Amino acid sequence: MLFVKKDIDKFKKLFEFVILRNKLLFLGLIFFSIITQVTAVSVDLIIAKVLEYFANYSLTSDLSLLKESITNILLILIIVMISSAVSYWAEPIMIAKIIGNTEPYIKKKLLKRLLFLDTKDILNKKTGALVNKLNRTSKSLENFLYNWRFSLAPFVVGMPTVLILLTSINYKFLILNLLYLSISIPVSLRYQKMGAKMWEKAYPKYDKSTGILNDILVNILPVKINSQEKYTINMYSKSIKFIPRLWLKVSKIYSRWGSSTSAINLLFLGFTIYVGFDLFIKNLISIDQLALTFLLFNRTDRYMGYFVHAIGETYRILAEFDAGMKILEEKATIIDDLDAKEIKVNKGKIEFNDVTFSYENKKVFDKFKFLINPGETIGVVGKSGAGKTTLANLLFRLYDIDKGYISIDGQNIRHVTQNSLRNSISLVPQDTLLFDDTIYNNILFSNPNSNRREVLKAIKEAELSEFINSLPNKEKTIVGERGVKLSGGQRQRISIARAILANKKIIVLDEATSALDSETELKIRDTLDRITKGRTTITIAHRLSTVMNSDKIVVFDDGKIVEVGDHKSLLKKKGKYAELWKYQTKGYL
Ligand SMILES: Nc1ncnc2c1ncn2[C@@H]1O[C@H](COP(=O)(O)OP(=O)(O)OP(=O)(O)O)[C@@H](O)[C@H]1O
Ligand SMILES: [Mg+2]
Repeated sequence: MLFVKKDIDKFKKLFEFVILRNKLLFLGLIFFSIITQVTAVSVDLIIAKVLEYFANYSLTSDLSLLKESITNILLILIIVMISSAVSYWAEPIMIAKIIGNTEPYIKKKLLKRLLFLDTKDILNKKTGALVNKLNRTSKSLENFLYNWRFSLAPFVVGMPTVLILLTSINYKFLILNLLYLSISIPVSLRYQKMGAKMWEKAYPKYDKSTGILNDILVNILPVKINSQEKYTINMYSKSIKFIPRLWLKVSKIYSRWGSSTSAINLLFLGFTIYVGFDLFIKNLISIDQLALTFLLFNRTDRYMGYFVHAIGETYRILAEFDAGMKILEEKATIIDDLDAKEIKVNKGKIEFNDVTFSYENKKVFDKFKFLINPGETIGVVGKSGAGKTTLANLLFRLYDIDKGYISIDGQNIRHVTQNSLRNSISLVPQDTLLFDDTIYNNILFSNPNSNRREVLKAIKEAELSEFINSLPNKEKTIVGERGVKLSGGQRQRISIARAILANKKIIVLDEATSALDSETELKIRDTLDRITKGRTTITIAHRLSTVMNSDKIVVFDDGKIVEVGDHKSLLKKKGKYAELWKYQTKGYL
């Protein structure tokens, strides 16, 4: 079987995405491809005809007849020339239009799917490998169209024409030709299939190595700081070690394929010469028919090559296209209920009730209970890895909890739309990630509808004005990939400016000021105090001075609350908080 059900299913997707969306253009492409191929075969016919006229002339010496025939043939040649010029001109246009219509559509669809996948699934993917896959999917679309134009169309249109012409000369040539095809095609397909299988196995390896390359480039600073260039090169080298072996296998397949098909071809050329000789001496065919036979035999060989190439390409294209389509089939589990309503946050009462949650195998919360009253400012402190950031992630519903519920103003966050939930909470995350864009656009990102005055105000309130004014391009300065051209504290302040601009009802600050000097932190705290007034605020911090003025301070350990109270009462208690305070004020930390 050339194609099994799995391939047909893959083709159905390609059909739906590429052909159905461009019906007219595709029909146009087929139409012009037919013209291109018919004109190509007619050139052979014209050559054979010219030979026939000359052969007749040497028999009859009728010059006027020869002149008339040649004039006619030149006229036909002009028609062929015009149609071929038109079709050669039109085919690339049709292809370009189909690609123009489809490539951005597929790329956008893939990105959309990726963005709506569960956070855990996205974090499990390697960026480099993913980019490679996306590019290959859109490239496969180009390959599909060019494969049609340069390989499949010549075979589909040209081959029947050749067979009809051969039959008109002598049925023996038809039999010979069919015999040639029936031996040569299976031999070639066998090798093509072997090749396709090998590529399918090789793609994940290529993706993996691109993933590693991407990881190395992202980690360029640690590589330099640790002076581990050699180690890193080694790491990458290992991931591309398979390439020589792969190409050795490729060469074996293609050499065997090349030598066997060339032998079969020459063998059949021999048969054709023999049959041609036999028919010619029996006066059953003329010299021009013999010439045409050889031209057609040559064409058969070329078409056979096209066909085999087209099939091999089709396997590859389907595999490449399908890799992208698999992304589209991935399902998110964190999705809005069909009847999900927008959350209404008035007061900002947050309740964690018997929340149990694990990351894959790591349990972080077990029946965790916590109530935050409307408008309260809550300080969260505790050991590294205790689950503080996780608490914020759960409130944003980046992950679904296993048991219990989290509610805001009495509405279970699981049953409201994710958009409305996230539009009600601002987060200044522990690690600020920025786009490789201007400072201005990075801040605007949190609320793209804001005007310039609002963005500049947020810049001022986040204590960024002095720094920005010292830059030649001011707020139009590009921050580099992930913000690498800024200091840690500057990145944090951009993140705070984002939160100020977003102006949401609940605010979560996860180590939002940890990278700032005390003076800047104090200034920013003033701003934060002002903007968080009357709003529920969760401040996560290791530096106790950051949270000491909170209404309530929660001390976390191992996903559990070990102490709650305000600064004074916790100090009196002489428990964990008091111990931490002692360390920090005595300068141990
Ligand atoms: N995406 C993840 N997948 C699996 N485990 C995770 C993930 N994120 C965090 N963890 C684990 O969950 C636990 C809680 O992590 P979390 O980030 O909430 O700690 P934290 O209290 O914020 O610590 P820190 O003070 O260092 O920021 C840790 O043991 C961590 O290793
Ligand atoms: Mg954290």
